[in-house]
Amino acid sequence: MFNIVLFGPPGAGKGTQAAKLVETYNLVHLSTGDILRAEMKKNSPLGQEVKSLIEKGELVPDKIVIELIRENLNNNKTAAGFIFDGFPRTVEQAKSLDEMLQKESLNIALMTTLEVEEEELIARILLRGQSSGRADDSDQAIIKNRIKVYNEQTAPVAEYYRQQGKHVSIGNMGTIENTFSQLKTHIDKVK
Ligand code: C5P
Ligand code: MG
Repeated sequence: MFNIVLFGPPGAGKGTQAAKLVETYNLVHLSTGDILRAEMKKNSPLGQEVKSLIEKGELVPDKIVIELIRENLNNNKTAAGFIFDGFPRTVEQAKSLDEMLQKESLNIALMTTLEVEEEELIARILLRGQSSGRADDSDQAIIKNRIKVYNEQTAPVAEYYRQQGKHVSIGNMGTIENTFSQLKTHIDKVK
């Protein structure tokens, strides 16, 4: 299996690039945000539990997201590999992911951070909010909180992978195609 982590702040373009990578490399896209939103839509017990946190732009506890990932890995045993999007969000989650993968003699090959300036992130998320209908995409204060939570709790995850020699940084202020081409170059180097 070939596994990568697509990293970066909210609105950096992770979902957009993941969709293109899925087509090219036949990987399974695991977006914890998408999974949690689906649970909210179903109004499942899990969805009810996480709703208020997500609506404020706060993180769902490690235990819950780690369990979600564990289930999804178990349900996709024959996958060619995974693109992790929006996970790991904390160093604790990154350590758990490594442990889960190691048990199956698997690993993360590469972690790529998509870098976008804050003003641009806010503009992109507000634009997305017009069609996504996501409450957390439609309110400046919540968007700013999500970026703050990213800077404080999530950004240190990049250092965790840097120490393993697996981290690359890609500027994503340009076109989707340009970023995709840089991503492919990095992936093809380690694949
Ligand atoms: O990844 P995405 O931006 O779609 O996530 C949306 C929201 O889901 C986050 O703002 C956060 O509230 C929650 N989330 C989380 N932990 C994750 C992934 C998403 O708390 N690992
Ligand atoms: Mg996303």
